[in-house]
Amino acid sequence: MKNIFKNAIEISKGICKSKLKNGDIAVDCTMGNGNDTAFLCSLVGEKGKVYAFDIQEEALINTSKRLEALNFLERTKLICDGHQNIDKYLMGNVKLVIFNLGYLPKGNHEITTTKETTIEAVQKCLGMLEPNAVILIIIYTGHENGKIEKEALESFSSTLNQKEYNVAKISFTNQINNPPELICIEKVCPKKV
Ligand SMILES: C[S@@+](CC[C@H](N)C(=O)[O-])C[C@H]1O[C@@H](n2cnc3c(N)ncnc32)[C@H](O)[C@@H]1O
Repeated sequence: MKNIFKNAIEISKGICKSKLKNGDIAVDCTMGNGNDTAFLCSLVGEKGKVYAFDIQEEALINTSKRLEALNFLERTKLICDGHQNIDKYLMGNVKLVIFNLGYLPKGNHEITTTKETTIEAVQKCLGMLEPNAVILIIIYTGHENGKIEKEALESFSSTLNQKEYNVAKISFTNQINNPPELICIEKVCPKKV
């Protein structure tokens, strides 16, 4: 027996498992130490591809070591650039995008995602999604910038046309210490005629 509603990270992992299959394209917009990148690689399989972005060289070094040990390097493209520039590297056909916002836990806490670049990246990702594809955004509100990002992302995502996107927000209302929250944006499948 396993709880489903344990935390935002576990829920996002369950969604990744249900959405991704061998051969899919996935994007990790905040590579960090590569935990999410490695997880996505395990789901897209040998025929799939994971594009991962980070602005810190340190993230690419740590992630490539992790991926090499798992024999996943060939199915990834690690990009040292801001996710807001995603359109320079990808055209479309994306099945899943994940953002794990904030700063690297053991890194420089001053290097953090920002509402402007995150929203720019989400907007660009929307145009790259296949039908039924999803964008998962994990938000940490325990720091000031995280609260600002949360407000901006909630207000942005709530304006998306419901005929085109299903938008859900998951917050753990009875947990203490600002647990991470999750915003999911799923591209609606075209109606069968
Ligand atoms: C919470 S960490 C990500 C954790 C990571 N997913 C993992 O599995 O270890 C957030 C990361 O976002 C990165 N970041 C900040 N601004 C960014 C941007 N504009 N584009 C891409 N990455 C960015 C930070 O450098 C940091 O490594």
